[in-house]
Amino acid sequence: MYGNEIIPVADSVFWIGAHDRTTDKFEGMWPLPHGVAYNAYLLTGGKNILVDTVKEHFIGGFLDRIAETLDGHPLDYVIVNHMEPDHSGSLRVLRDVYPNVKLIGNAKTAEMIKNFFGISEGIVTVSDGETVELGRRKFVFVFTPMVHWPESMIAYDATDRILFSSDIFGGFGATDGGIFDDEADMNIAVGEMARYYVNIVGRFAAPALKALAKAKTLDIGIICPAHGLVWRTDPGHVADIYEKLSRQETDEGVVVVYGTMYGNTAAVAERIARALVKNGVPRVHVHDIVRSDISRVTTDIWSMSGLVLASCTYNMELFPPMARLLRHLENKGMKGRYAGLCGTFSWAEASLRELSAFVERSKGGWALVEPKILIKSNMKAPDAELCDMLASNMARIIKG
Ligand code: FEO
Repeated sequence: MYGNEIIPVADSVFWIGAHDRTTDKFEGMWPLPHGVAYNAYLLTGGKNILVDTVKEHFIGGFLDRIAETLDGHPLDYVIVNHMEPDHSGSLRVLRDVYPNVKLIGNAKTAEMIKNFFGISEGIVTVSDGETVELGRRKFVFVFTPMVHWPESMIAYDATDRILFSSDIFGGFGATDGGIFDDEADMNIAVGEMARYYVNIVGRFAAPALKALAKAKTLDIGIICPAHGLVWRTDPGHVADIYEKLSRQETDEGVVVVYGTMYGNTAAVAERIARALVKNGVPRVHVHDIVRSDISRVTTDIWSMSGLVLASCTYNMELFPPMARLLRHLENKGMKGRYAGLCGTFSWAEASLRELSAFVERSKGGWALVEPKILIKSNMKAPDAELCDMLASNMARIIKG
């Protein structure tokens, strides 16, 4: 049966993953305009070792690719780097088809395999940093807790200098024909990698830095993540991108996000955005929180040093789409950034109060840029002056 091609990554190492262009929302929440790839790899020669599986929905073609690659030989091991079902979803069927296959994970993996699939036999548990010889290959297992779940680990094939990095270095986006970094449209790949990082892993930026430090001690020739591209030409490039994201290093720029019902708050946001540009801010991105996808807005906010939030009040509370954004930002624990605030109302002010509370709860993660602006009904000349003042102060701070 024809489907995704089996693609050699190195001698006796094959990509046998799946491209998903039918799931609308990853984790039920995050849009997939370019799809997503579930990367799995089969290593042959001596022992036959599968690294990760695919989402259960794609089991049919996946089993075909395994059988074709094995060509009648047994499947000896599955390395289970991560138990989120986009990677582990095929384990139960795989064990039915290959009853003698051993599953390799850590103690937390074993517990999750039991909880998800009722499987408790034939599991080999490894410890952090342990080296295990599997046939002609020597694997080092490195635990990377919370990147993305507590059981997460990476597997380093020391024989071939290949790092199977699980979610680390992964990105959204099915690969369009080519799976390697030298075959891809890097603009799409890096953008989708950042969106994956910020929204899926971003809360765990500190553990991600620790995982990165561990990975850096390895002599890596090829990086094979569980999503996105295989980095064979320039693995250092993806490591640099990942480190910048994990350190929350920002570029000079300001994201202006507004929530509006009748356009009055949109006019405020547009005024501030124009004033930011006039004050020399090199990058200004404007989002209508009702229309821009929250994962894209959050990725923009992650990458820039300044943020202006302008929101109307709704039923004596903050406009609900803006409140949802604030909850998502709080979950990410962003640090070292600057925020300007503007609230609007007509008869019962709540927006500026709730925006201010967001900044206060961040305990310095967001430094307030004055003036805070409160506008009744719609922007008038004195309000416009305050908007210009906020933009000028924001520009001076982030450029300084
Ligand atoms: Fe790609 Fe955390 O799973």
